[in-house]
Amino acid sequence: MTMKNHLNKKQTRKANHYLTVSDLDADMLLALIDRAIQLKRHARAGLPFRPATGRTIGMIFEKPSTRTRISFESAMYQMGGNVSFMPSRDLQLKRGEPLKDTARVLSRYLDCLVVRTYGQEIVEELARWSDIPVINGLTDQHHPCQILSDIMTVIEHKGPDLSGLKIAWIGDGNNMAHSWIQAASRLGFPLTLACPAGYDPDEGILEEARRQASAPILLIRDPSEAADGADVINTDVWASMGQEKETMERKRRFMKYQVNSELLRLAAPEAIVLHCLPAHRGEEITEEVLEGPRSVVWEQAENKMHIHKAILEWAMGLRQEEG
Ligand code: CP
Ligand code: NVA
Repeated sequence: MTMKNHLNKKQTRKANHYLTVSDLDADMLLALIDRAIQLKRHARAGLPFRPATGRTIGMIFEKPSTRTRISFESAMYQMGGNVSFMPSRDLQLKRGEPLKDTARVLSRYLDCLVVRTYGQEIVEELARWSDIPVINGLTDQHHPCQILSDIMTVIEHKGPDLSGLKIAWIGDGNNMAHSWIQAASRLGFPLTLACPAGYDPDEGILEEARRQASAPILLIRDPSEAADGADVINTDVWASMGQEKETMERKRRFMKYQVNSELLRLAAPEAIVLHCLPAHRGEEITEEVLEGPRSVVWEQAENKMHIHKAILEWAMGLRQEEG
């Protein structure tokens, strides 16, 4: 390829980045979930699905991960492709190589990049300079892949009409809360968040989501009010990765926000409980609820692998090539 051709390619190509839920419209979000449900059936039936043969994804992870890492890796291997896992400490990034150089170099080797890091601006900068799709595998602000497996789990249990459900978020106004807020806005379902004072979701994200929403996104203080009649109850750790120093203070401030049997009694009779995991039993959720009949967390964790297949297939344009 000549330099001129390469420049033309760079100017015209727009990679399928997925950095926040708001990057995609409702149809696209639902299409990914539908596809994941189909691929789950496909996998359960033992049918081969290897559209990624000859492709390699890179995964730059700056924070620990069990589910996101392994489910992306398994998804890619099952699809016939390869994975290059790159703890960020092992890259020249750690010695000051700019993100824009890293993105352009990796674009020459790889077909897609999954990134777990701190600031959202890091994935944005990588995407700005990358010719290959950049997928946000969690930042301090968003966890957009996780939310798709969570909504997939809700749809499997409650059916596709989310607009009639009461969905509650109980706990920290964190990255997961932000992705739920954006999903509620895009997909038009009502969401009630109960967060302690001082731990609200980002005001800008909330306001923007509300401006575009067709159903109410409520922020309240009382966890009982959020749980009352809820069909879906979500929670997450009180101290996210990077907030370890705040753990003790947060435990004090969040105790009333524990998802326990008493709170669950207020919910709808067939309510389900979601937690993206890892869970801290005795803090944001009790052992009894996590291991109880309303908990769907293991299925939710499994669904990450199916949704990641759908995301990778879309991001790398593999379905078109399938014909
Ligand atoms: N839910 C989730 O993202 O888990 P990991 O941190 O283990 O990837
Ligand atoms: N809010 C949590 C989610 C972990 C998957 C964190 O960022 O640590």
